[in-house]
Amino acid sequence: MNDVSARQETLKQQVAQAAVDYMDSQLKNHSIVGIGTGSTANYFIDALARIKHKFDGTVASSLASEQRLRSHGIPVYDLNVINDMQFYVDGADESNHQLELIKGGGGALTREKIVASMADQFICIVDASKMCETLGKFPLPVEVIPMARSVVTRAIVRMGGRPLYRQGFVTDNGNIILDIHDLQITQPRQLESAINNIPGVVTNGLFALKPADLIMIGTANGVETRVAR
Ligand code: 5RP
Repeated sequence: MNDVSARQETLKQQVAQAAVDYMDSQLKNHSIVGIGTGSTANYFIDALARIKHKFDGTVASSLASEQRLRSHGIPVYDLNVINDMQFYVDGADESNHQLELIKGGGGALTREKIVASMADQFICIVDASKMCETLGKFPLPVEVIPMARSVVTRAIVRMGGRPLYRQGFVTDNGNIILDIHDLQITQPRQLESAINNIPGVVTNGLFALKPADLIMIGTANGVETRVAR
C-alpha cells in the first residue's frame, strides 16, 4: 500500500469511529441500525462491535456485511421483520455538497438504497477524497437484470453515457452491473429517476431523491460533520 492509500485508510477508520461515537450519544432504547457495505462500512462494523450491547441489532445491505457483523456477534435481522430503524450508516463513492451521492462501487447499491430508505437518519461516512462539486467523475453503477443488458446499454448511450459491463461480477441479487462513464451529473434527481425508468434497470447508484441526512468527512485536520448546503 502506498502512502496516499495508507492515509486514506486511516481517515476511513477515523470517520468510522466518529460515527460510532455520534450514534452512541444518540441511541434510543432498542434501536436497529442499518449497515452499509465497503471498506469504510467495514471499519464502522469493527468499531460498532465495542458498543453492541447498546442496541438491539442491525440490518445488513450485503451478504459481506452480514458475515462481518455476525463474526463480531452482532445480531443481524431480516428487513421484513423490522418496523423502525434509527440510523443507516454507509460510505459513498462521491458526495456533492447537497449530500447527493454516487454509491455502488462495491455493487451493493440496491440493498443499500432499500435499507437506507427505512432509516430515520442516513449518516454517510467518507474520507475527504470523496467530496466533489459535481457528481459523475466516479462511474455511475447501475444494477440490471441480466437479460436486459443490451437494451439498457443502448438506452444509456442515447442518454449520453458510456456504460461498461462490470466483467465477472454478480450482485447479491443475481444481477449484473453497468458502470456509466463520462457523465456530468448536474441534475442528479432527474437522472436518478430517468435511469430507473429504463425497463430492466433494478436501480442506479444515485442517492439524490433521498440523499444522506448527515455526512461525516475524515480530513487531515480531523472529522468534519456537515448537513446539506
Ligand atoms: C458499496 C458502496 C460503498 O459505500 C462505496 O463503494 C464506498 O466504498 P469504500 O468505503 O470502500 O470506499 O456503495 O456498494
